[in-house]
Amino acid sequence: MTAPGHAGDQRLAALTEQVVASFAGASSPRYRTVMQSLVRHLHAFLAETSITEREWEQGIEFLTRAGHITDDKRQEFILLSDVLGASMATIAINHPGTDLGVTESTVLGPFFADASPRAGLGDDISGGAVGQPCYASGTVRDVAGRPVPGARIEIWEADADGFYDVQRAGGPVANRAHLFTDDQGGYRFWSVRPAPYPIPHDGPVGDLLTAAARGPMRPAHIHFMVSADGYQRLTTHVFADGDPYLGQDAVFGVKPSLIRTFARHPAGVGPGGRVLDTEWSDVEFDLVLSPNRPA
Ligand code: BEZ
Ligand code: FE
Repeated sequence: MTAPGHAGDQRLAALTEQVVASFAGASSPRYRTVMQSLVRHLHAFLAETSITEREWEQGIEFLTRAGHITDDKRQEFILLSDVLGASMATIAINHPGTDLGVTESTVLGPFFADASPRAGLGDDISGGAVGQPCYASGTVRDVAGRPVPGARIEIWEADADGFYDVQRAGGPVANRAHLFTDDQGGYRFWSVRPAPYPIPHDGPVGDLLTAAARGPMRPAHIHFMVSADGYQRLTTHVFADGDPYLGQDAVFGVKPSLIRTFARHPAGVGPGGRVLDTEWSDVEFDLVLSPNRPA
């Protein structure tokens, strides 16, 4: 195929304007803006790459495969958004960062589940998941350093084999819970030391990574989602210092401010008087919430 010549360029420009104009009557101005921009960028992308008909078909086949593999347990479109950096770009646009010390946001990922069990402060939320015991604690504060009591923290994490509970069909809830901060904004729980793991890569997104000579690994992390009245919801992770994949996260989610030391301790008595007959770890991760945007 050859690049369109002058007449072809004009035809394409006229087509683009015709499609853009077809959204002019949309009742929602925001929908109109988004769709008209999408059409302009999509047409520009097709022109810039001189896309062939076979390549366009392959793109549609890819999206069809992504649709077929997606169900209530497997979300290939979130994975696609993640590996293309679109999830992190959306976060960058909506949480541009402040110099007020607000904890940075990162990807939600596909393994969050509503309706997690409630845990008490200091409970073990591992649900029997494989892995070395790990104690996590910290505080939730506002930008003035005041504690946020009663903040709801959702926690979810893969086990030492790299699987989330929802990836184990029929398995128990494990490494997943929500809890509420105490009067000093404090939280604490036991789970397992996080390990690096691959994002699901047995589908079209895995093929995309392979074709790009990219790996599927994510560095070890624990997910947190924190909500409290008067504050923006925070979706973030704590990452483990020293992880070999910190510089090559498949979904571009690492921010240096979110990396902490997961200190290792010999068997003995741990926080809360827990007796441990194996090595265990602990990590401290304080969270700072941003106030709600004015309405
Ligand atoms: C996760 O951290 O759970 C995750 C994020 C993006 C893609 C796959 C998994
Ligand atoms: Fe994860």
